Amino acid sequence: MDKKVTVIGAGNVGATTAQRLAEKELCDVVLIDIVEGFPQGKALDLTEAAPIEKHDAHLTGSNRYEASAGSDIIIITAGIPRKPGMSRDDLISTNAGIVKNVIQQVSKLSPKSILIIVSNPLDAMCHVAYEASGFPKNRVLGMAGVLDSARFRAFIAMELNVSVENTHAFVLGGHGDTMVPLPRYSTVAGIPITELLSKERIDALIDRTRKGGAEIVGLIKTGSAFYAPASAAVEMTESILKDKKKILPCAAYLEGEYGINDLFIGVPVKLGKNGIEEIIQISLTDDEKEALQKSADAVAELKALLNLN
Ligand code: APR
Repeated sequence: MDKKVTVIGAGNVGATTAQRLAEKELCDVVLIDIVEGFPQGKALDLTEAAPIEKHDAHLTGSNRYEASAGSDIIIITAGIPRKPGMSRDDLISTNAGIVKNVIQQVSKLSPKSILIIVSNPLDAMCHVAYEASGFPKNRVLGMAGVLDSARFRAFIAMELNVSVENTHAFVLGGHGDTMVPLPRYSTVAGIPITELLSKERIDALIDRTRKGGAEIVGLIKTGSAFYAPASAAVEMTESILKDKKKILPCAAYLEGEYGINDLFIGVPVKLGKNGIEEIIQISLTDDEKEALQKSADAVAELKALLNLN
């Protein structure tokens, strides 16, 4: 393949991301993890599946960051996932140290790369990556809105017994309990869900979306979600590698957009070969603006814990 993507962290999210990237033949994939043999074993296992899955993407695993050199995109999934009873925010000190260390190393080896952050707490980890890399803001983004919107879409499709392909949804804000699902911009075959469902049902779906990650943690118990997070990271990667210019909700660094300053938070962006090519500003009602501001305040509180600028 003529594109190279490195996935840091060969755990549940990282390995699933590598599998999907390879099976879609989007790029060659390098998997990196600190556990000896772990990324090598997963890359080899995926390579041995290639003849059956019919793809020619090359997968390699390494414990050395040098293997990531010259990557077009680097996806950061390194860190610890949450366990039952933990919020994403409980991961902050451990994951901030891991993400900082990883970014300092990989950004030097791939100075032109685009960084997609998946490690939680997501919006705060984007700040760590932005600071540690020194990259321009269009090349640092976080995966959360695509995942949260996919969860909302899945619940809408279940509720109305329609194809998921007919659904569209927007979830903005931070990747946490304060996220902001927007029913007015969420549609089935172009029809806003506000015309298809009662307010009570919409509120129930919004609540389930907000708690979507915790619902999975509660069921799996030993870790957190990884299939849908990997799918979301791959959709973002595909839009960048193919310069598709999809509009997707991603964590982006805001400088005045939506009245928010110096903060990573989920907003609709256009994703193309330059990373974030545009931040799309949609009009919000006063209630929606207030909810987004509340979410931004929660992210700002976490950011303050990091002692960053
Ligand atoms: N460099 C590379 N890999 C690392 C490092 C590091 N410095 N530190 C930890 N890792 C690896 C671990 O060895 C482990 O294999 O990161 C991997 C994380 O995998 P899992 O424990 O399976 O966690 P996962 O479910 O993949 O979640 C990873 O993504 O969705 C978020 O909240 C989640 O922050 C968590 C991250």
